[in-house]
Amino acid sequence: MNKKSRRSIVAGNWKMNLLPSQVQPFGEELKALAAGFHRQECVVCVPFVMLPAALKVFEGSDISVGAQNVSENPRGAYTGEVCADQLRDLGVKYVIIGHSERRTLFDEDDIRINTKVRLALEAGLHVIICVGETAEQRNMDVTFEVIKLQVKSALYGLDEQKLKRVVFAYEPVWAIGTGVTATSDQAEEVCSFIRGVVRAKFGGRIANGLRILYGGSVTPENADDFFLMPDIDGALIGGASLDPHKFFSILEESENNED
Ligand code: PGA
Repeated sequence: MNKKSRRSIVAGNWKMNLLPSQVQPFGEELKALAAGFHRQECVVCVPFVMLPAALKVFEGSDISVGAQNVSENPRGAYTGEVCADQLRDLGVKYVIIGHSERRTLFDEDDIRINTKVRLALEAGLHVIICVGETAEQRNMDVTFEVIKLQVKSALYGLDEQKLKRVVFAYEPVWAIGTGVTATSDQAEEVCSFIRGVVRAKFGGRIANGLRILYGGSVTPENADDFFLMPDIDGALIGGASLDPHKFFSILEESENNED
């Protein structure tokens, strides 16, 4: 199975931006632009409070809705938390787990991330697991050790069957929101390494079917560089996903790349 047989994904991560009242106009605009673009998967990950509005506006379209976080606990007495089966019951398809902002600002370590991954998959969600090294780790030449640890611990205890609903996003921390992207060669090198780590654990069939995205300052101008790489199956986009035209342009680049 090669790149052509993996359906690419263009996913937007709104982070804590926009307002609930902006979801519907954004969605209408994106739907109009993206009508007819369905060869790749398009996912919009919004804050919890905007999920119902996003599900409503994208209902019946090819655009899926994702959350940006999920509780590491099942249903119960956890004031302020949202658990995986609540997301699933609402109709959410994807959830981002282990974004570097959560790892650093909210102390999410690899063990908590593994718990979240397992609960999300058990609830029937698809997960986008973010991994990436800091600038210091890259300078210390430990990028591959860091990535291997993050990938292996995120997948700990999962059976092969569940891997079908796992997507990885390689997001070097130094490239997120900075305007500095990894070069396409740097991104490819790590994405190919991630595929190798999964191959060693789960075998060739699973590894070749696994979708791996690049994230970190992706724009309509640079997206194509990444989409051309053999182990990069799409992008996770922060800043540029807040504008439906920019986000759509990236989707268009991805579609063109499949010709
Ligand atoms: P960015 O964010 O595109 O704004 O760099 C990417 C991300 O954090 O997923």
